Amino acid sequence: MDPYASYIRRYKAKTGKSKRFYLKAEKLFPGGISHNIRYFEPYPIFANAARGKSIFDVDGNKYTDYWMGHWALILGHSPPPVASALSKQIKHGTLYGVANDLSVELAEAIQKIMPRAEMMRFSSTGSEATMYAVRLARAKTGRRVIAKAIGGWHGFNTTLMQTVNFPFEVEEGPGLVQDEGQYVESVPFNDLEASLKVLETIKDDLACVIIEPVLGGAGCIPPAKGYLEGLQQFCKKNGALFILDEIVTGFRLSLHGAQATYRLEPDLFTLGKICGGGMPIGVVCGDKDIMSLADPVSIRNKEARCAIGGGTFSANPATMAAGLATLDFLRKNEHKVYGKVDRLGNMARQGLAKIFADAKIPCSVTGTNSIFLTHFVKDDISAIENATDVATSDRGKLIKYHLALMAEHNIFFLPTKMAAVSYMHDESDIRKMLSATDKIVSSGLFKIK
Ligand SMILES: Cc1ncc(COP(=O)(O)O)c(C=O)c1O
Repeated sequence: MDPYASYIRRYKAKTGKSKRFYLKAEKLFPGGISHNIRYFEPYPIFANAARGKSIFDVDGNKYTDYWMGHWALILGHSPPPVASALSKQIKHGTLYGVANDLSVELAEAIQKIMPRAEMMRFSSTGSEATMYAVRLARAKTGRRVIAKAIGGWHGFNTTLMQTVNFPFEVEEGPGLVQDEGQYVESVPFNDLEASLKVLETIKDDLACVIIEPVLGGAGCIPPAKGYLEGLQQFCKKNGALFILDEIVTGFRLSLHGAQATYRLEPDLFTLGKICGGGMPIGVVCGDKDIMSLADPVSIRNKEARCAIGGGTFSANPATMAAGLATLDFLRKNEHKVYGKVDRLGNMARQGLAKIFADAKIPCSVTGTNSIFLTHFVKDDISAIENATDVATSDRGKLIKYHLALMAEHNIFFLPTKMAAVSYMHDESDIRKMLSATDKIVSSGLFKIK
């Protein structure tokens, strides 16, 4: 039997209840899901619990989780200090809808870790935070054009929903007005010369460059040496803002984010995911001068004020409590946490690369620190440097590999998506994942076209 057909058969045999939920869900949600990337073939597992490094589905299967809540859960699922802070808070209210003490405490904690956050605003999602960041940039500079990377993902806000999916030069689809993109330009990630050429043509109307330090959704691609610095330099020289989207990399690449790792000085940056402790959050932060443009108290004239900052659930006390407990733990255990997750990330990258190299399967394992992703490269692509390299690699093989890990070995990667290691994982988990990969290679899965 074709090995993939056999993995699918095993997957279906153990996920009957998930299938029943999916049949209901597809009548309720377009595509049966509430986030596009959560669908995978033949149908996704439906989870009903998660603890530490594990996620459980409705059929009672327990998986070692490398998706970790869209990479938000660096301390694992419901880590005790966060669970305890949350359960205490829930007794005292989940949504005050007014200013609250915990929001001040979380903002101070963020500022201590990332001093460039002179001022900030909390939102409930990263998509809001990036939307606010680019609006602030337009307000500050009086210019219109926003530059982003080809394949760069900043959430589902309309402004930044450009050149996200391959083929990148084609419109993202109906529902977005065709002209919506006329004030958004895209630059090729990791090609500084070509990026600067594009920026040069729009510099007089360039409000900002917004960029992920490591391309995340587009394939877990670290920046080439000097690339981000070059963009930052161009922005400073030409009166545009340099905005770093640290929604994934903040508190992940290091406690102090990618801005510390790569020694960057963004005018604004966005945070999310980890600093919400598993609860919904987005943060736009940066220079006081820029953030102050949104001050509704001292800027009475609506024409002079940048309209950002709404959200019924923004700065809700449950998120604030979970975020505070998370940052408190990370700060007190910085070396232990980052030492461990980085070591495990390296072990995964090196181990996977060796297995595929030994088996002569053309492959590139990308990532840095505690995030990684395997790409089955085509013969003419030796290294993965940008979103096009990812999109044109063999995604079919990756889907099959990730499904095989789930079906046979109870290891969960969201198919085709970057993986994240948490503080709850240990070396034996990585060894199991590598040995499972070895077995999948031996099953002949990668030999099928
Ligand atoms: C780099 C980056 N920016 C923004 C977002 C959007 O955040 P959210 O999904 O919380 O809206 C994401 C989500 O994955 C992201 O990876």
